[in-house]
Amino acid sequence: MERKKLNIYVALLFVSLIFERVNCTTVTYDGKSIVIDGKRRVLQSGSIHYPRSTPEVWPELIQKSKEGGIDVVETYVFWNYHEPVRGQYYFEGRFDLVKFVKTVQEAGLFVHLRIGPYACAEWNYGGFPMWLHFIPGIQFRTTNDLYKNEMKRFMEKIVELMKEENLFASQGGPIILAQVENEYELVEWAYGVGGELYVEWAAETAVSLNTTVPWVMCRQTDAPDPIINTCNGFYCDGFKPNSPSKPAMWTENYVGWFSAFGYAIPYRPVEDLAFAVARFFEKGGTFQNYYMYFGGTNFGRTAGGPLTATSYDYDAPIDEYGFIRQPKWGHLRDLHMAIKLCEEYLVYADPVQLSLGENLEAHVFYKASNDCAAFLANYGSNSDATVSFNGKSYFLPAWSVSILPDCRTVVFNTAKVVTQKNLIDVVFPRKSNMIEYSLASSEWSWFKEKVGVWSNSSFITSRLLEQINTTQDSSDFLWYTTSINVDENSKVDKETKAFLLIQSLGHAGLVFVNKKLIGFSYGYHDDASFNFSGSIDLNHGRNTLDVLNMMIGLQNFGAWFDIAGAGLYSVIVSHSKNNSKEDLSSAEWTYQVGLEGESIGLDRIDLVNSTLWTKGSDLPTNQSLIWYKTTFYATDGKGPLSLNLSSMGKGQAWVNGQSIGRYWPAYISPSDGCTDNCDYRGSYDSNKCLRHCGQPSQILYHVPRLWVHKGVNLLVLHEELGGDPSKISFLSRVRHEICSVVSEDGIPPVDTWKPKTSLQQPQVRLSCEHGWLITSINFASYGTPKGDCGTFTAGICHKNVKPIIQQACIGNRECSVPVATAKLGDPCPNVLKSLAIEAVCTTTNP
Ligand code: GAL
Repeated sequence: MERKKLNIYVALLFVSLIFERVNCTTVTYDGKSIVIDGKRRVLQSGSIHYPRSTPEVWPELIQKSKEGGIDVVETYVFWNYHEPVRGQYYFEGRFDLVKFVKTVQEAGLFVHLRIGPYACAEWNYGGFPMWLHFIPGIQFRTTNDLYKNEMKRFMEKIVELMKEENLFASQGGPIILAQVENEYELVEWAYGVGGELYVEWAAETAVSLNTTVPWVMCRQTDAPDPIINTCNGFYCDGFKPNSPSKPAMWTENYVGWFSAFGYAIPYRPVEDLAFAVARFFEKGGTFQNYYMYFGGTNFGRTAGGPLTATSYDYDAPIDEYGFIRQPKWGHLRDLHMAIKLCEEYLVYADPVQLSLGENLEAHVFYKASNDCAAFLANYGSNSDATVSFNGKSYFLPAWSVSILPDCRTVVFNTAKVVTQKNLIDVVFPRKSNMIEYSLASSEWSWFKEKVGVWSNSSFITSRLLEQINTTQDSSDFLWYTTSINVDENSKVDKETKAFLLIQSLGHAGLVFVNKKLIGFSYGYHDDASFNFSGSIDLNHGRNTLDVLNMMIGLQNFGAWFDIAGAGLYSVIVSHSKNNSKEDLSSAEWTYQVGLEGESIGLDRIDLVNSTLWTKGSDLPTNQSLIWYKTTFYATDGKGPLSLNLSSMGKGQAWVNGQSIGRYWPAYISPSDGCTDNCDYRGSYDSNKCLRHCGQPSQILYHVPRLWVHKGVNLLVLHEELGGDPSKISFLSRVRHEICSVVSEDGIPPVDTWKPKTSLQQPQVRLSCEHGWLITSINFASYGTPKGDCGTFTAGICHKNVKPIIQQACIGNRECSVPVATAKLGDPCPNVLKSLAIEAVCTTTNP
C-alpha cells in the first residue's frame, strides 16, 4: 500500500516536472526572428481589442482567428478605462484584461500586449485618462517627471497584474511580446530634446519592469537596444530594423481603414493585402500583425476622434459582428498556410534575390543547394508576366507573389483567390439575409431637454471657455449661453435683423436664438473646427443666444494632441440697422455642463417607470434634443443584433442601460470617389478604395447579444437633431450567401499539398459559420460560367451540376467538390472549364 502511494507520488512529481518544463517558455530574438524555446518562429498576428466586443464572444473570435492561421493576438491596454479615477482600477466586463489574455491562452495562441500606455487606436484621448491632463505642470509623452511617474506607475500596475496571474511566457503564460509607447517617431520632432530623452527613458523603464519577454517600439527608428523597432504601414517590405541583431517585424498591417462620420467607407482588396504580406516575408520578415484582424465596435463614448464612427469594422477578416468576412479571411488563411509550409526555410537563412525581368524577382531560401523554398514576385502594377525559374515557367499576374515551398510547386498566388466569397455588407444590410423586427411596442415615452441652462450647477464667466477643460469630458455637451441686447428705444419695427458668426474649435454645435433652433454646424474628422454663420431675427430688448457645443470623441493622434481644444472661441453679431459689430467673445457667458437627461440618468433601467417620461400616442418626431424610450422583445437566438437607425439624425442609444455608441446617420459622405471594384494592383492607401459615397457612414449599430435578454428589453435614445423613432427596427442575420468559382487549372487548396506528390486537384470549398448549415444551392454550373458571385450566369459551355453539388453540400456545414470531369462530367471537351457555385447558409438560431 505504502509503496503504491510512493509510486503515485513519484509519478506525480515527474508529471509536474515535465509540466513545468513544458509550461515555461523562453522568448528571445535574433537577427532573423522571435525565438521561442530556442526555436526561430515565423508568426502571424492579429489585433483584437478586448473592449471592442463583449466577453462572451471572445472565445469565438479567437477560435476564428486561430482557424484563420493566426498565432498571436495583439491588443493595446486602455488606460483611461482601467483607471478612470487616479488610483481606482477597473478590470471588469469588457475591460477584463486578465480574462481576455487567458481566453487567448486557452485557444493555444500567444499574446502581444501593447501596454503603451499611449494607444492611439481611434480610442478616446488615445487611451489617456482625463485626470492626467489636470495634473498641474504635466506634459504628456515627453521628459516631464509628472507624466513619467504616472506612465511608469500604470505600466508597473499592468505588468504586476500579468505576473500575478502568471501570464508572461516565462511563467507559462501566453504573452510573448510587449510594447512601450506607440509610433512616437511621428511626433518626436515636436518635443525637441525632450522627445529624445523620453524615448531613452521609456525604453529603460520598460526593460526595468523585467517582463522576461522582448519589448517593441513600433515606428521608432531610434529605439534603444534591446528594444526592437518595428514597422507599421500598408507595406513594410522595405523595412530594416536598426540593428542586425533584431528581426524584421511588422506590427500594424492595415487590413482596411477605420470609418469616420461623414466619410465614405474604406476597404482594402485582399489580393493587395496578401501581396503586401507575401512581399514582407519574401524579403526576410518573420512577424506580421493585421491591424485589425477583428475591429469590432466603439461602444459608449470610447471612440476617439474627432468624429470616429461607432463601427470599427475596419474591413477586417472578422467583421464587426464577429462573422467571417470572405474572401478576406479565407485567402489570408491560405496565405498563412503557404508561408507556414516555408517556415523552416524562412528562418534558416537570408534569401537569395534573383532578377527575373523588369519588376519581376525571385527570393530563394536555401537550406541546402537542392533544398529550398521560393517566392516569385511581379511587383509591377500593369502587366502580367510569365517568368522562368528553376527550369520551369510560371505565370505571375501583375502585383502578385507566388509561393513555392519546394521551389517548384506554386501552392498560393496572392492574386488568385480560390477561397469562397460571401455577399455580406455589414454597413447596409442585404435585406434578404436579415430578419427585420419592428420594435414590438409602439408605445413611446419622451423627455424634452430644455434649451440652455437647466440647473443651478451652471456658472458665469466673462469669456469663452475651452470645452474639454470645462467639461473634463464628463459629457459630450456644453451649453454656452448669453444674451444679445437690442436698443429698446428705437421706434422702428419690432424685429431687427442681424448676422451671427460663431467660430468653434469643434466638433459640432446647435445654435438657438430666443430658444428657437436656428442652425446646426459641424466639422469633420480631419478638421473638426467649424463656423456657424447666418442671419438672425432679434427682438427689441433682450434676446437669448444658446449654443450647445458638442464633442464627438477626443483627439487620439498627433503631436500635443492632448491639449487640442474644443468649443467656441469667437462669437460676433453684426447689426444691420446701424452697421455695428458686437464681439460677444468677452461678454458674460453662462455655462452648463452636460444635459439634464444625462444628469438624471435617463438611460438607466431603474428610471424606466419614472414620471419624468411623458407617455402618449402623439409621439413627437423631428425634434432636436429629445430623449425617447420604448421597450422591445428580443428574439431567441445566440447571434448579434443590430439596430437600424436610418430614420434618426444624430445622438446616442442605449439598450438595457448599455450605450451602443454614438449614431449619426444624418451625416452623408461626399458623393464621389467610390468604387465597388477597386483595382487591387498598385499601391494602396486609405483613400484608394471607398464604398457608400453619398450615403451615411453608418446606419446599423451593433447590439451585442449579451446586452439583450428574453422578454422585455429597454431602448433609450437621445436624439440631438431630429428623427422618427417609430421607424427604428432590429435586425438579426439568418442567411449568408456564399459562392466560389474555381478553374480546372486553378491552384489546389494549399492544405492538400505534400512535398513530392502531384495528385492535388483544384476544389471548390464552401463553408458556413459555426452552427450554420448549407440549405440551398442557388447556382451551380460547370463549364464557362460568366459573371461573379451574386451575378453568375451560365456560359456557352454549361452543365447544370446542381444535383451533384446538392448531394455533396446540403445539410452540411462545409463541403468540397473537386473541379474535375471525373466528378462533374464533361460538357465541352478541350475547353478550359470552371465550377461556379452559389449557395446559402442559414441558421435556426440567429
Ligand atoms: C496608427 C496607430 C493605431 C491606429 C492606426 C489607424 O498610426 O498606431 O493605433 O490609430 O494608426 O487606425
